[in-house]
Amino acid sequence: MNILITGAGKGLGLSTVSEALKGGHHVIAGVRSLKQENEQLQAMRQEYPGQLEIIQLDVAEESDIIQGRDAIEQQFGTVDVLINNAGILVGRDKKLEELDMAEVEQSMMTNLYGPMKMVKHFLPLLRRSAKPCIINISSEAGCFTGAYGGDYPYALSKSALTFFSAQLRKELTPQGFAVYNVHPGWIRTPMGGEQAPGDPKNTALGLINLAERRVVPEQESWMITYKGEPMPY
Ligand SMILES: NC(=O)c1ccc[n+]([C@@H]2O[C@H](COP(=O)([O-])OP(=O)(O)OC[C@H]3O[C@@H](n4cnc5c(N)ncnc54)[C@H](OP(=O)(O)O)[C@@H]3O)[C@@H](O)[C@H]2O)c1
Repeated sequence: MNILITGAGKGLGLSTVSEALKGGHHVIAGVRSLKQENEQLQAMRQEYPGQLEIIQLDVAEESDIIQGRDAIEQQFGTVDVLINNAGILVGRDKKLEELDMAEVEQSMMTNLYGPMKMVKHFLPLLRRSAKPCIINISSEAGCFTGAYGGDYPYALSKSALTFFSAQLRKELTPQGFAVYNVHPGWIRTPMGGEQAPGDPKNTALGLINLAERRVVPEQESWMITYKGEPMPY
């Protein structure tokens, strides 16, 4: 399969690239900027010749997305799986009166409008797949039942992403798509920190199982774990 992953330069995105390559897939790794060489991605490209493309894909920039879409269309013709993984966590622990609205906007641009723009522009390529799949990486921080009165920019953007996923699922499932909104767990990445209990490799494996449809969640759900289990919303 051709698997496109955003925010692929580190953290969960990088682990997912690695697991997808091990699974024999073609991977298109979107990174925010190509200016800085990413040694780990370069090493993977050498280890799996012909399986990995690295492209510039700043999900906040619609022009980047359109350019990326055109390049991928020319080279591959189709995308089977889109994993909207890129995300930011800014303005941590600020109370409402301390909020910098620029950080709220930046969070929406990346965590919500980014996936929306990606789906908008990649849908034509996904429609050419026999088994198209869209996986949005959300967070339990955006769950109604888990509202904790903090991280407003992040929590609100992830909550809205979850609703976007629900809308997409209604529209696209009848057309043969699998659409998932996944909480990846609290995992050891630059965002999650060293003290997090989860290994991003396990989450990445779970995402690939969902993408390959080896794991099919038993019931429709607003949010699932990386193992495909429904979560309260
Ligand atoms: N870690 C956790 O415990 C946890 C828990 C719940 C949900 N999540 C979600 O899981 C996903 C992956 O998180 P992570 O822990 O791997 O985070 P991370 O370590 O901070 O990595 C985030 C990735 O997203 C990229 N990114 C940020 N803004 C971007 C943009 N505008 N365009 C393209 N790429 C962009 C970053 O690129 P740069 O290197 O250029 O910054 C980085 O590669 C995120 O959506 C996050 O919200 C994580």
